[in-house]
Amino acid sequence: MTSSLQSPFQGAGLSEVQPTPPSTDTPPLTIVIFGASGDLTHRKLVPALFDLMVDGLLHPETRILGVARSPKTHEEFRGELRASVQTFARSTNHLDLFSEFEKKIFYHPMTFDDPNGYTAIRTTLLSDEFRKPTRGNVLYYLATPPSYFVPIIRNLGSFGLAKINEDTGETPAPFTRIIVEKPFGRDLASARDLNREVLQVFAEPQVYRIDHYLGKETVQNIVVFRLSNPVFGNLWNNVFVKSVHISVHESVGVEGRGGYFEEAGILRDMVQNHLFQLMTLTAMEPPVAFEAESIRDEKVKVLRSLKPVRIDDLPRTIVRGQYTVGEVDGVPVQGYRNEPKIPPLSDTSTFVRMKVEIQNWRWAGVPFYLTAGKRMSKRETLVRIVFKDFPFALFRLAGTPGTVPNELIIRIQPNEGIALRFGIKKPGGSLMIDPVEMNFSYQQAYRAQAPEAYERLLHDAIVGDSTLFARNDEVENSWNFMAPFLGDLTKLSPLRFYTAGTDGPEEQDRIGEPSPA
Ligand SMILES: NC(=O)c1ccc[n+]([C@@H]2O[C@H](COP(=O)([O-])OP(=O)(O)OC[C@H]3O[C@@H](n4cnc5c(N)ncnc54)[C@H](OP(=O)(O)O)[C@@H]3O)[C@@H](O)[C@H]2O)c1
Repeated sequence: MTSSLQSPFQGAGLSEVQPTPPSTDTPPLTIVIFGASGDLTHRKLVPALFDLMVDGLLHPETRILGVARSPKTHEEFRGELRASVQTFARSTNHLDLFSEFEKKIFYHPMTFDDPNGYTAIRTTLLSDEFRKPTRGNVLYYLATPPSYFVPIIRNLGSFGLAKINEDTGETPAPFTRIIVEKPFGRDLASARDLNREVLQVFAEPQVYRIDHYLGKETVQNIVVFRLSNPVFGNLWNNVFVKSVHISVHESVGVEGRGGYFEEAGILRDMVQNHLFQLMTLTAMEPPVAFEAESIRDEKVKVLRSLKPVRIDDLPRTIVRGQYTVGEVDGVPVQGYRNEPKIPPLSDTSTFVRMKVEIQNWRWAGVPFYLTAGKRMSKRETLVRIVFKDFPFALFRLAGTPGTVPNELIIRIQPNEGIALRFGIKKPGGSLMIDPVEMNFSYQQAYRAQAPEAYERLLHDAIVGDSTLFARNDEVENSWNFMAPFLGDLTKLSPLRFYTAGTDGPEEQDRIGEPSPA
């Protein structure tokens, strides 16, 4: 039985603390969003920009220029975004500020292959209405299907939009930056090609490759927690840690994106990006300084230290699964092969568990288990550090029931927080050990809602902080490691079926330690 202790931080005055807002020193700029009528723009980007404005983190002279195929006027576009902000923004109690916000919004209909469209964007950016108040600063956001990344980037280059205000002699010099959405490639070759295309037009410091997981407070806290607390930081190695379990469980299925998911599978959709980000932040060495390049250097070193997986190692390294008809939260759901746009004999994985090894002095001998799954029993993202037992297990040898390994559980979402699991003597005459958890909850400790991931990342790109964005070598090293897993796995790691609403296939424990409960 697991009992929960009161938060150790309760009563320490922390519940009065508000999250620290980022610097308010943000420059004016024009944000050009390609794909402005799409889901991402409506659900995430524009609500995040509105929330930044409400928090005073968007310069008053910001311009937002939406670009997409559907013909519509500025007014129609603003009306659609008002509805999105009402539904998806954090600051819904400040909707009166939307009339101020919408003055910054403009729309330009074009297809992404239309040269006249890029000429028109250039004319707009150089017009007095945009150029002067924004001091020539421009941030492009590629919120489009990935197949349009290269055509848009090439056109930005050809029409002089990638270095639009360079060499004007102004101080500070105007900046031009570009945010590229995920997925960044679908394997090593395509990621290299995309990097080459991007870097032919933009310099690396202009490029912000986004993975919204890095914008989450709890993900950033992995680094802060381990590097600011010697009690834990000193145990963060193979002397004390037995294994590390990183899991991203979703209760949703493919949500109408069957065509995309069938092509991508869970390895491309979740593992190469989100799980690898969690792994590199958990495993990296302390950086020489807490700034972008030093942190990215350490993350890349983790990826370069991953023990390469040979084809014949695959059966011992990965378990794949696919969900069948079942129930999630009491609601019947169909199996993956019955979802729209999925072939009846699809071999695509909706679940994987992988065992990876990091070959360096800190982690040699400590397995990292990475698990991702759709239609699981609940939505939950965790990093779980399991510590080694004492060399001599006094109580276990005496046959005392209840001994458990010490575990540190970092809850990324939901119920963001940290739990420490340990054993105590159960009150009473007989010697019984009860496993208990000491829990810290962000929600209990901080009253104000933390910023959304996209708020943080948009703000960082606006102020020019690339710490939470992936560098070109990081992306390429992660795809390089993934290569053996992206081939035909039907024989080497056949699909195991699991009922929707459960925690994945039974066979998942075959590749090593069972997943902790
Ligand atoms: N949605 C999310 O929650 C989410 C999360 C993480 C990452 N992403 C990434 O974000 C990107 C966008 O995703 P999304 O879900 O927003 O896609 P989406 O809903 O399909 O939107 C695509 C956008 O691109 C425009 N477009 C497509 N073809 C065009 C063309 N030939 N010319 C001009 N405009 C064109 C569409 O314009 P019209 O509608 O006017 O035709 C629309 O504005 C993808 O790379 C995705 O992987 C999305």
